[in-house]
Amino acid sequence: MKLLNLVEEQRELVRKLSADQQKLQRRETLLDVVVKERTKELEESYEKLKIANRQALFGLAEAIEAKDPYTKGHCGRVAAYSLVLAKEAGYPVDGLETLEFGAFLHDIGKIGIKDAVLLKPGPLDDAEWIHMREHPVKGYDIASKIEMLHPIMPAVRNHHERWDGSGYPDKMVALDIPISARIVAIADAYDAMATDRPYKKALSIEECEAILRKTAGKMYDPDLIEVFVGRHLGTLYDEKYDDLPYDDGHVASST
Ligand SMILES: [Fe+2]
Repeated sequence: MKLLNLVEEQRELVRKLSADQQKLQRRETLLDVVVKERTKELEESYEKLKIANRQALFGLAEAIEAKDPYTKGHCGRVAAYSLVLAKEAGYPVDGLETLEFGAFLHDIGKIGIKDAVLLKPGPLDDAEWIHMREHPVKGYDIASKIEMLHPIMPAVRNHHERWDGSGYPDKMVALDIPISARIVAIADAYDAMATDRPYKKALSIEECEAILRKTAGKMYDPDLIEVFVGRHLGTLYDEKYDDLPYDDGHVASST
């Protein structure tokens, strides 16, 4: 009799265990569904945040262009040239978006330049040039106050440095200049030469490329110039970046 009871108890125990196991499995499946749903929601929120950030940054660039109509379209083209140069030069893929924003907003400091200087139709005098050359540091100061802009501070501050140390504001030399700033400097120079300005007509692609080659190793990173000129990246803008929301204006400035 005792033995029968024992067997019955054992069966009961096995039944309970199996029921508990099934309950546990159901809970695990439910948990899995909840985790997947939450992950999807988080991913969607992150994408929305990225879009909002992008819109805010494009809005800032528009503020620069609204203040200085001569640069209309310039920021977008500099971003496009910078992006294509970075990609061709093997820039880390996960840094491309930051580089694009840095290129787009490289002249953000022009917000702090007096209209009388920024919009002067003729050549600037010495004092005006000194004021105009404050724009990279003014831009850096603006970017430093906005956490979202911290990653682009090197491109903003150092896009007027020159390979031989003759640039500003920090007189950096060669590879000491942040790579984002070296890329933006070439894109900025190319666009200024390749577009009409109030006091000069646009140069041809061949003329622009010849000037860039001449200045490689003096003003600009020779390896990056080799990539930009050697692969004729100046001609790729229309072909590859038609779908980007960049305004293709006709007048540019590289100050
Ligand atoms: Fe600039």
